[in-house]
Amino acid sequence: MIVIKNKSAIEKMRKAGHSLAQIMQDVRYLLKPGISTLEIDSFIEKKILEFGLKPECKGYAGYKHATCISLNDGLVHGIPSDKVILKSGDFVKIDVVASYAGYCADMTRYFFIENVDIEIKRIAQVAQFALDSAIKLAVEGNRISDISACVQKIVEENGFGVVRSFAGHGIGRNLHEEPEIPNFGKPGLGPVLRSGMTLAIEPMITQGGFDVRVMADGWTVKTVDGGIAAHVEDTVLVTTGMPEILTRLPDSVVEG
Ligand code: MF3
Ligand code: CO
Repeated sequence: MIVIKNKSAIEKMRKAGHSLAQIMQDVRYLLKPGISTLEIDSFIEKKILEFGLKPECKGYAGYKHATCISLNDGLVHGIPSDKVILKSGDFVKIDVVASYAGYCADMTRYFFIENVDIEIKRIAQVAQFALDSAIKLAVEGNRISDISACVQKIVEENGFGVVRSFAGHGIGRNLHEEPEIPNFGKPGLGPVLRSGMTLAIEPMITQGGFDVRVMADGWTVKTVDGGIAAHVEDTVLVTTGMPEILTRLPDSVVEG
């Protein structure tokens, strides 16, 4: 069942989302060579608590941190560690979920540490464009796979691969709700979108082959071939008109 959120639920998700968006801006100045991913995680967790939010990753399926921080060929679920130190040229993806008064928002942003390879800039830009384009389809009357097909088309046209084994998802009281939102597929299929649905849309894309695997720590997901992986994510409210991006501050706009 896909839950339609009422005004009060939406207000809580908006508060969670805007707080996370602010935190992702504030974390930027920390992201320099020499900092560990555990220090980044601690900073974000502290901010989450300051905003009166609950870090939802912590305790989820036994996960111990507020964020997932994935580098370079890491796609998702990188575990923050004091042994993982950022260096110049790193491509960093920070994924964070937090709730306000029981309602979640989920977002991922990427960051470049000093000068990164031109191919990293290109894959990041394609992931962002795929997300922004897909979000515009989160409109009442469209179907879930319209979002999927849009991501796949943009990513493949640009010569990158879409990961098959992870997907976006509905979100609300729970981090993962129905429907599942794959990043590939034919348009016009799956549930019809209705105003009040809230979706976490998250293109996960690769430079080479789209196969990924979970590492020995049980969480970290990397590309099998060692190619760069990109991931970006927003929590979006479906409306009858332009979707509302709950994880962006109101003055920001969708590009493209
Ligand atoms: N944001 C991730 C997702 O959409 C959740 C991270 S998994 C966790 O699946 F265990 F860290 F919570
Ligand atoms: Co998600």
